[in-house]
Amino acid sequence: MKAIVLEQFGSIDDLQFKELPVPQPQAGELLLKVVFAAVNPYDRKVIEVYGKEVGVQVPVIPGSELSGIVEATGEGVAGFAPGDAVCGNLGTFGGCYAQYAVVKATDVVKKPETVSFEAAAAIPVAALTASKAILDEGGLQAGEKILIHGASGAIGAMAVQLAKAAGAYVFATGSGKNEQRIKDLGADVFIDYTTQDFTTLAKEIDLVLDTVGGKTQEDSFTVLKQGGRLISLVQPPSEEKAAQHQVHAKMIFGGPNAARLTQIMQQLADGILNVTVEKVYVLSDAKEALRAIKTGHRTGKLLLNP
Ligand SMILES: NC(=O)c1ccc[n+]([C@@H]2O[C@H](COP(=O)([O-])OP(=O)(O)OC[C@H]3O[C@@H](n4cnc5c(N)ncnc54)[C@H](OP(=O)(O)O)[C@@H]3O)[C@@H](O)[C@H]2O)c1
Repeated sequence: MKAIVLEQFGSIDDLQFKELPVPQPQAGELLLKVVFAAVNPYDRKVIEVYGKEVGVQVPVIPGSELSGIVEATGEGVAGFAPGDAVCGNLGTFGGCYAQYAVVKATDVVKKPETVSFEAAAAIPVAALTASKAILDEGGLQAGEKILIHGASGAIGAMAVQLAKAAGAYVFATGSGKNEQRIKDLGADVFIDYTTQDFTTLAKEIDLVLDTVGGKTQEDSFTVLKQGGRLISLVQPPSEEKAAQHQVHAKMIFGGPNAARLTQIMQQLADGILNVTVEKVYVLSDAKEALRAIKTGHRTGKLLLNP
């Protein structure tokens, strides 16, 4: 099979496009024919920045999110059969940048027929991370005010939709070109971070979702009401600042959650959630896709088609 291989950490340029044997599923695993693999900022960060720290061993095939078709099942797998269309968030590098991938059966769910393979590959990481952040860890309640930073990104766009569905009033930051798209997803107030100061426009906020970090995170403490919550996906918030403003703040990580993903796929099938795919690259162009993800300012997910 064709695959993208990371042999040493440090640079996207060192990725190799190789011919490898098709892997075999062990107990509890599925062999998938990959239909689409998603390219995420996490992939780029593991390759360039913190691969060793998060326990990834090289050589490795990158990719943690995919849609595919079951080719074979390992011993003891129940509920899946060859031919099933599935998708999932594998949590860490799971070999998705390839024509075939072996995955834990517990990390994937069946794709509803009416959901495309593109959408199924594009939604698991964003929806599972956003839902864990704002619903589970953030405890968002109907009628509360949420400020979502990076609302035009994959996670932020999903968070806007989930927050709206939960009955919250949504402030969303992004750059001006994305205003209409973010409002269409349900944001009540759009704040263009390139021309406006969110600290003067969003006040008495119950929950901040931070997908940006740095000064954006720091300034967010000033818009929270007393007892409010700040959840970051990118950087541990300052404990001193949280105490000073009498708010709760923490960084969290997403990850696989098959039960939640099944609900999300149904919401996608029912049109309650939407996901945008910006571009599909062929597998051999994975470096180009990773360079595009590095520049940020995406208008939808980037996928690889092996
Ligand atoms: N903790 C976890 O488990 C976890 C899981 C997944 C992702 N993440 C991290 O979360 C971050 C977002 O991921 P993603 O997939 O959503 O990335 P993405 O699709 O690349 O989106 C990032 C968005 O941030 C916006 N942005 C940049 N600077 C901004 C600012 N100062 N204020 C407001 N918005 C700004 C950009 O919007 P414009 O184009 O409109 O400028 C861009 O669309 C990444 O750093 C990723 O690594 C963490």
